[in-house]
Amino acid sequence: MRLISVCLTLILVLVAPLHTAQARQAAISSAHPAATDAGFEILEQGGNAFDAAVAVSAVLAVVEPYSSGIGGGGFWLLYRNKDGKQIMIDGREKAPYQSHRDMYLDSTGEVIPGLSVDGPLSAGIPGEPAALVHIAEKYGKLSLHKTLAPAIRAARNGFKVTPHYQRMAQFRLEALRKSPAAAKIFLLNNEVPPLGYVIKQEDLAKTLEAMAKHGRAGFYEGEVARRLVTETRKAGGIWSMQDLAKYQIVERKPLTGHYRGYQITSAAPPSSGGIALLEILHQLEGLDLHEQNNLQRKHLIIEAMRRAYRDRAEYLGDPDFVKVPIKTLLSKQHADQLRKSIDPEWATPSSDLKPVASKDSGFHTTHFSIIDKHGNRVAATLSINYPFGSCYVPPGTGVLLNDEMDDFSAKPGVPNAYGLVGAEANAIAPGKRMLSSMSPTFVENKQRLAVIGTPGGSRIITMVLHGILAFVDGKDAETIVNLPRYHHQYLPDMVQHEVDAFSAEEKAGLEKRGHQLKQLDSTYGNMHIVIQDKKTGKLSAAGDKRGEGKALVK
Ligand code: DON
Repeated sequence: MRLISVCLTLILVLVAPLHTAQARQAAISSAHPAATDAGFEILEQGGNAFDAAVAVSAVLAVVEPYSSGIGGGGFWLLYRNKDGKQIMIDGREKAPYQSHRDMYLDSTGEVIPGLSVDGPLSAGIPGEPAALVHIAEKYGKLSLHKTLAPAIRAARNGFKVTPHYQRMAQFRLEALRKSPAAAKIFLLNNEVPPLGYVIKQEDLAKTLEAMAKHGRAGFYEGEVARRLVTETRKAGGIWSMQDLAKYQIVERKPLTGHYRGYQITSAAPPSSGGIALLEILHQLEGLDLHEQNNLQRKHLIIEAMRRAYRDRAEYLGDPDFVKVPIKTLLSKQHADQLRKSIDPEWATPSSDLKPVASKDSGFHTTHFSIIDKHGNRVAATLSINYPFGSCYVPPGTGVLLNDEMDDFSAKPGVPNAYGLVGAEANAIAPGKRMLSSMSPTFVENKQRLAVIGTPGGSRIITMVLHGILAFVDGKDAETIVNLPRYHHQYLPDMVQHEVDAFSAEEKAGLEKRGHQLKQLDSTYGNMHIVIQDKKTGKLSAAGDKRGEGKALVK
């Protein structure tokens, strides 16, 4: 009997899905204090982490208009504690039906600068409204009426212009001026508004109210949809009522893998995040990083990044349109092959890697992390792509449209706004989702759990990688989000880095090995993490010092 019970206990321990002691508290870290506070307001009304995620997303859509919004999309990685279900809500934008693969090329086949970045032609069909409604209806406990209330309030009462807002508006000033409705909301007399100026968004409040009242129909059908389509078309866009009516989110199985005893759960395609992260970690797993000196460690990490980003450029795209060889890319054989090609002493020029086959021819975007007192988790990375997206607002809607179409590969081998190249797998096609780097991620073993992510375009994946490596090394939340960062993305063939990423000795050492270093003028990223000690349930949270967010445990 005793033996049976010992065996049973053992079996239970072995199959337990990395069980967590219940937290008596909740933790939220997001890029804006108003969003973090809204999340707690909803938890206090009896909502769960998923309700809080709806409220946080919607408030960010209002108070961080340069980062994300209901005119954009994102990925929400959910973990439901009661049954251990992990799911990725794919609310990524889709190319309109009238789009076509060469829509950003001129008659000589050259990319027309700006066309995929500014104005209505650069906007994909938004996914965030559908995702919020879906999360609320399927996973939440409260009505949209309640969870959207803080955002509606924030839109009506306004939020104050911060130094960060000013930097973003300055960066996109010319494009914002071209859309009278956008300029009226986000500028003051066509100039960047002064610090403390209050931005009110009455039209956006009304659009959010329509969603609270009618659910997805409040955005994708009826008056709001009609205005979105007519105004967008008047301004040179190609959206149709059918594009909006047919938009659907997809529930996808997140990707999971392992690194030094930790389980990593991250975004599946159409994000490149999970695949690239796991490819890098698989290469590193066999390289005993912890036994290397700092210089060697950084050399190996850079080489692993280079190889994973090469695969990204060739193979990754929307899995509903192209066959992404996930199994092969995440196989042990592939990792072994990539690892073997790494020279421990020298940088491999990217041009020495197999060329990307082609048949033919931070501070925008946002991430938040939540764990509630029941152990439910949300890691969400949301975007409208460039700061202030396309800078275009269809008059009367308050909806700032994304410019996510630029994440497609407009022409094989031609870099996009983040310097990323792509091929056939990520070519434009009607109804297709553009490849993303957004990587909301869970990292856990039996003792500890991290809910982590960040904005930062092509550098998102390597930032999350640094976060995972530091978490596995036992670092705390503050340290992880504030780590100095470096990045390699295959092309351009250089190591982009923050000022304090390398010591003078490491710089010299890396250059001697053949790495070209490029120190960036500014810092990048805006990481948010929540960490839980699974034995005690104790939570900690931190937001990147580079941003203006708020992390709170309560
Ligand atoms: O989905 C993507 O990969 C990009 N649209 C994300 C853009 C981004 O993170 C901008 N932040 N600095």
